[in-house]
Order: sequence, then C-alpha cells, then structure tokens
Amino acid sequence: MRSLQNVLVTGGAGFIGGNFIRVLLEKTAEFSGRIVNLDALTYAGNRASLEDLEGPYGGKRYFFEYGDICSRAAVEGVFEKYRIDTVVHFAAESHVDRSILGPEAFIKTNVMGTFILLDTARKYWRDSGGALRQDVLFHHISTDEVYGSLGETGTFSETSAYDPRSPYSASKAAGDHLVMAYHHTYGLPVTLSNCSNNYGPYQFPEKFIPLSILNILEGKPLPVYGDGRNIRDWLYVEDHTRAVWTILRQGLRGEKYNIGGENEWENIKVLHVLIDIAARKAGLDPEKLRGSITYVTDRPGHDRRYAIDCSKIKRELGWKRELGFEEALGRTVDWYLANPGWIEGIRTGDYQKWIEQNYEKREDGMGELR
Ligand code: NAD
Ligand code: TYD
Repeated sequence: MRSLQNVLVTGGAGFIGGNFIRVLLEKTAEFSGRIVNLDALTYAGNRASLEDLEGPYGGKRYFFEYGDICSRAAVEGVFEKYRIDTVVHFAAESHVDRSILGPEAFIKTNVMGTFILLDTARKYWRDSGGALRQDVLFHHISTDEVYGSLGETGTFSETSAYDPRSPYSASKAAGDHLVMAYHHTYGLPVTLSNCSNNYGPYQFPEKFIPLSILNILEGKPLPVYGDGRNIRDWLYVEDHTRAVWTILRQGLRGEKYNIGGENEWENIKVLHVLIDIAARKAGLDPEKLRGSITYVTDRPGHDRRYAIDCSKIKRELGWKRELGFEEALGRTVDWYLANPGWIEGIRTGDYQKWIEQNYEKREDGMGELR
C-alpha cells in the first residue's frame, strides 16, 4: 500500500474533485496527510462547495490555492511550497456542449494544462542523483468518452482504441496520451483512470442529471436531446472517488483503470426515474411533470452509447460500486432539495463574487490575497 503525504488536487472546487477532497478528509481513516486544492475558479469552480471544510481542516490539512494549471509559475510555486508527492489531476473543462460552442478553453486547460503539470512534476520529482523518484505518483482523471461511441452491443475496456469524437473528448484523449508518454519516455510514475458519467451532490447544473432535477423542482421544461435513446453508464460520484483512492494506494505505475457503474440507461428512462423520485420527495404531480418533457434538436455528433468494462479494477484492486442507481439518485435529489443556498448562489452569480472580493489575479496566473 502506497502512503501519501502532500497531495495536490487540481480542480478541487469542481464537482468530482470537491467530492474527492471531502471523502479523503472526512471519510478515509487511512489518510492523515495534507491536501492542496489548486483551482482557477472558472464558472464550474465553486469555493462554497468546500467552505464547511475550511473550519476544521483549513491551514492544517486543507489548503486552497487560487491558480491556473496553464501557468508554469503557479504550478511550480505549489510544488515548491507544499513539497507535493502526489498529484490527482481533475481540473478540466468538462462539458461536451460547451466544447462544441467554444473548443479553445478545452485545448488550453485539458491539453496545455495537463502538459504543464506533467512537466513540472518531471522537473520537481528528482532524487539527489538526478533520477526520477518512484515513491511519487501522478494520477490523471479521464473519461470513457475518449473511446468514442458504441453501437447496441459491446463495452469499452482498457485496451479499446481511442476514437474521440467531440472537442471535449479529443482534448481529454490528448491529455491521456501525454500522461502515458511522460511515463514511457521519462519514467514518470503515473496512473490513469477513465470513468463513465458521474452524478451526485455539487454537480454544476448544466449536466443532464442536475439540470433535470432543478428543472423538475422549478416546473420548467425538461429538454431531451434527439430521440432520448442515447445511453450513458451512470456512476455515483462517491463510488468514483473511492475508486480513485484505491488506485492512488494500490494502482500499478503505468497502468490504466476503467471505472464504471455497470449501469446503462437511456436518457429518457433516467428522466422518468428522476421524475418519480423528485415528485415523491417534493410532493409534485409526476404526470404533470412528464408533460414537461421536451424533445429538442440533437447535439451535433452526439455519441450514441457508452458502456464501461470495469472488470480490471474490480479484479486487480478489489474496488466495486457500492450504491444502486435509484438509491443514489434519491440521495442526489435530497442534496439539491437541502441546499437551496448553493443553487441560488449559482443562479445569481454570487458564487463568483468571492474571487473578486478576496483575490487579485497576478501575471503568473496565481491569485494574490487582497
Ligand atoms: P467540473 O467542470 O465540475 O470541475 C472542473 C474544475 O476544474 C472546476 O473547479 C474549475 O474551476 C477547474 N478548472 C478548470 N480549468 C482550470 C485551470 N485552467 N486551472 C485550474 N483549475 C481549472 O468537472 P468534473 O465534472 O468535476 O470533472 C472532473 C474531472 O473528471 C475532469 O477531468 C473530467 O474530464 C473528468 N470526468 C468527469 C466525468 C463527469 O461525469 N463529470 C466523468 C468522467 C471523467
Ligand atoms: P451530459 O450530462 O452533458 O454528459 P455527457 O454528454 O458527457 O455524456 O449529458 C448526458 C446525456 O444527456 C447525453 O446523452 C446528452 C443528454 N442531455 C439531454 O438529453 N438533455 C440535456 O439537457 C443535457 C444537458 C444532456
């Protein structure tokens, strides 16, 4: 079992990175080290998501650094200041629809940002003889979307060929290739995971499940792309974060691990289940809600089906999904019902005011406390 001390989490103010930090600090008895969250607080980053951790852990085991992974000075500064021994790289532009409207930010963060992180790790992680240390680890978080789209049968395994089809998945694929190249060329100790669609607390309400939950609760139309029969393999975010923790401790260097829910659903069926759950919890009329389902123009190049074969991580590292779909969807709906303040902050844009109030952006890409 590998032991970790000073962990750099990139993108920890986002959905999965934030859930990962929470699990590590609150639920994982095996970890007593420090976590540095480096995040540029883009539209998807929300510092309020981790505010409750600041009190018990801030300045002791949890440190927030406002900065851009595309800035070499910012990344080097963090490596130096915290003596990082483990990188868990979540930071990314993550929404397919946005990548279709504006791909450039995806190339910058997902390709250049990943490169800067890898290159800094390579320079920083040298032993006294100049060789790359092997007691450190760079773990890269990626997506099943790099494998492309499936027909009615089959699954993606770790040996499936890459065939990305959106600017988002192409940028993630490029990042994955750089990670493996740094391992093969320079001997950088890396692991990589490709996960299926996540859902759960703190997910930005642009993705299908949180957007649908909020639209249901607010009585708005429920948009479904195309014929609604595209299939995704859904995994509760906490199950994903536990898989990442397992890889950090037991994963073999240079190995890829697919993570999935073995839980394929057509989009339209997800929506019907969500309607039933949310209607029950919020006292709404499910039949009226079904009348709000609105079929809209399909996403260009919309991948038809994703399905992950996660037998390798189950067999080799002993991870498995813990929560069933309907139970975890219920927890997700409960969370959105219990956190109107978080939603309101996003609706009004107030969640971003914290940056203006507290930080000035320096030329090197880091934020300076006012
Ligand atoms: P998210 O969009 O919720 O969060 C991304 C975070 O990265 C935000 O906090 C944002 O501020 C930060 N960020 C963006 N650009 C940055 C930059 N240049 N420098 C520093 N920080 C920056 O994303 P998510 O859904 O939590 O996804 C996290 C990772 O998991 C991504 O790498 C994504 O590709 C991968 N992934 C996501 C899913 C999913 O279903 N959401 C599934 C598989 C893999
Ligand atoms: P999304 O959450 O954007 O994740 P991804 O595109 O990375 O899989 O979308 C999940 C599925 O839901 C995808 O097939 C597109 C579809 N979708 C809708 O039908 N309506 C919507 O409003 C959104 C955002 C997505």
